[in-house]
Amino acid sequence: MKTRVIILFFSVVVLSALLISACKKNDVAAENFGPYNPTYLSFNIPNGWPVPATNIFADNPLTEQGFQLGKKLFYDGRLSKDGNFPCASCHQQFAAFATYDHDFSHGFDNAFTTRNAPALFNLAWMDKLHWDGGINHIEVQPLAPITAPNEMAETIENVLNKLNADTAYPAMFYAAFGSGGITSQRMLKALAQFMGTIVSNNSKYDKVKRGEASFTYSEQNGYTVFKAKCETCHKEPLFTDNSFRNNGLAVNPYLNDYGRMRITNDKNDSLKFKVPSLRNVMLTFPYMHDGRIYSIGQVIDHYRSGIITTQPTLDPLLINRIAISNAEKNDLIYFLNTLTDQQMTSDPRFSAN
Ligand code: HEC
Ligand code: HEC
Repeated sequence: MKTRVIILFFSVVVLSALLISACKKNDVAAENFGPYNPTYLSFNIPNGWPVPATNIFADNPLTEQGFQLGKKLFYDGRLSKDGNFPCASCHQQFAAFATYDHDFSHGFDNAFTTRNAPALFNLAWMDKLHWDGGINHIEVQPLAPITAPNEMAETIENVLNKLNADTAYPAMFYAAFGSGGITSQRMLKALAQFMGTIVSNNSKYDKVKRGEASFTYSEQNGYTVFKAKCETCHKEPLFTDNSFRNNGLAVNPYLNDYGRMRITNDKNDSLKFKVPSLRNVMLTFPYMHDGRIYSIGQVIDHYRSGIITTQPTLDPLLINRIAISNAEKNDLIYFLNTLTDQQMTSDPRFSAN
């Protein structure tokens, strides 16, 4: 009898000791940072817009804490080797998150990128990223710039060490994702929450569509020209159909960039690049995958008279080039100006704190 009591007592002690130590492990974070209680957010699709083909937040529930962490990471130079090249150094908010006035962007050690930095908005509708569509998920994209020697030139391991040594990040990761610490997957999810929720839908064009503003005579004419001559590829309301096409630019002899073919190895994809959105196009110059065209007027001249018509993969829509009169060109430019969304480019929600 006595021995049974002792054994029972002993087991209770051992068991509770085990339980306490297990709890302790899980609760270290909670003790330090308080209860895990994220604020869930919903991602709103603007009225009349298509539902994205895949929900980029399906495995990455959006929270205010995740978004704020992603924003801090996006603006943090420590994601780069020498501290000087945060994501935001090439993706500048006032330029719709493209690099303002640069064909190529500066990266680590005075190196340059080999393509023009795209603007970042409405990414939730984009199922393939980069000019050649070589990246198929927003959550893996940041691995490319962080580790590219001509961009941020850092290793993921070093980045995680720097984040762990920081005074703010451990608590922010806990607030966003609960116990489990700082991991690369969580870092990527947070960046996706920030970038993926940058939506541009407050340009004059959008206001006209919502009945809150009206086009001038020239803008309206330009819109008519746009619908007749540009819309097939630069499809409303995103102003891209997300396809890859050859719009008749000469091969850049320094870069020999054959675009989509690099990814698919299919010669039918030679010289095809992603159709970029024309939202905020007045802010994203220089234009095209290598930033070779500096003004919007010259872009229109390319479609009127510059298209190289001998490339076998040229888009069939462009084999006769596009007839655009000077008056139409002017009106088209007035219309393209209505696609600038100053609300997005100055929204403090997307700015560095
Ligand atoms: C040195 C400049 C530079 C830095 C720093 C940089 N990017 Fe980029 N980014 C680019 C360029 C150039 C491309 C186009 C790459 C391509 O098409 O091959 C790009 C493409 C992208 C795209 C794809 C957009 C699209 O429309 O396909 C995303 C998303 C993106 N960057 C996010 C980031 C994030 C997040 C970071 C930080 C972790 C970052 N970038 C850091 C220059 C940069
Ligand atoms: C056949 C499809 C097609 C048609 C039609 C078309 N585009 Fe494009 N557009 C593209 C492709 C593809 C690119 C990217 C090419 C590249 O970078 O190599 C592009 C790029 C652009 C860019 C550069 C944007 C940036 O951010 O770099 C502008 C501006 C543009 N087009 C305007 C127009 C206008 C205006 C019209 C009508 C006159 C038009 N496009 C008609 C396919 C098309």
